[in-house]
Amino acid sequence: MTAQQGIRYDARHVNRPEHYVAKQVRTAVFPVAGRGTRFLPATKASPKEMLPIVDKPLIQYAVEEAIEAGANRLVFVTGASKRAIEDHFDTDAELERALTDSGKDDLLASIRNIVPAGVTCVYIRQGEPLGLGHAVLCAQPAVGNEPFFVHLADDLIASEPGCLSQMADEYERHGGSVIAVETVPPENTSSYGIVAVDEADGNRITEIVEKPQPEDAPSNLAVVGRYLLAPEIFDKLETTGRGAGGEIQLTDAIADLLQDQPVYAYNFSGVRYDCGSKLGYLQATVAYGLEHPETGEGFWEHLREVLSVSGR
Ligand code: UTP
Repeated sequence: MTAQQGIRYDARHVNRPEHYVAKQVRTAVFPVAGRGTRFLPATKASPKEMLPIVDKPLIQYAVEEAIEAGANRLVFVTGASKRAIEDHFDTDAELERALTDSGKDDLLASIRNIVPAGVTCVYIRQGEPLGLGHAVLCAQPAVGNEPFFVHLADDLIASEPGCLSQMADEYERHGGSVIAVETVPPENTSSYGIVAVDEADGNRITEIVEKPQPEDAPSNLAVVGRYLLAPEIFDKLETTGRGAGGEIQLTDAIADLLQDQPVYAYNFSGVRYDCGSKLGYLQATVAYGLEHPETGEGFWEHLREVLSVSGR
């Protein structure tokens, strides 16, 4: 299946309780302070979120998905070696002038309005990479007392509409928090947060565990890098101690949150690529490269040639 093919989406605007009015989700948090050790040495001095898939960095796909879902405040939780992200979303007057002077209008359009008017970027530094939960807590001053998205840019999801839009629709139906999940092979549970759900109650999560061994896993439904969280998660994160890997885990705070209020698992429509791993990154590059108007045809030909020469 190609990146965009075969994906059908059903917004399911049904069964919404009449009294329920969802707050609009205006803020998206991008935790980008991890060191990306799985991608060393490429990530020694450059952020993994700046790795390109064809011609756009991962973080730009992330931002576009969040804006499509209605976010107009983008909060980046950054750390060491992440300056390039800030520069990417800033205006580069000199480059714009050079492209204008040389009449390269297409290229000019591609670097202008990466962040459209009316959308604000906020950068917060995570002093030490103490874990995803800690990174999300760092965003609290910029989020305030509202529901918000958390988007992990290295999980690239090809879907139409985007995964966050699908989750915003799901949230509109019943409020609470919404977490994207997908089924993984049982032997892979130790790489993910794993949930147990009550299907009779709209996939409400009853248990969540960080990276359990297959024999301890409550299911093989794995959390992927998209969350729509109620602001009460911050209270939980304040008291979440270090968990798996010695890090402050978002999963542990969610485990606490679901004791007080509903958290739903959402099986998104789309194809996910784990671009934090070398193989996932290459798979995404192939999928998007084959779809790209400039590279698609030539890339197909090249791949056919490579595969026929190698006899596969
Ligand atoms: P990962 O588990 O993928 O860690 O973090 P990582 O450091 O980015 O990559 P590897 O595993 O060493 O290769 C999940 C997400 O949480 C962010 C990361 O940037 C990534 O988006 N994160 C993680 C932080 O922002 N701060 C942290 O302290 C840890």
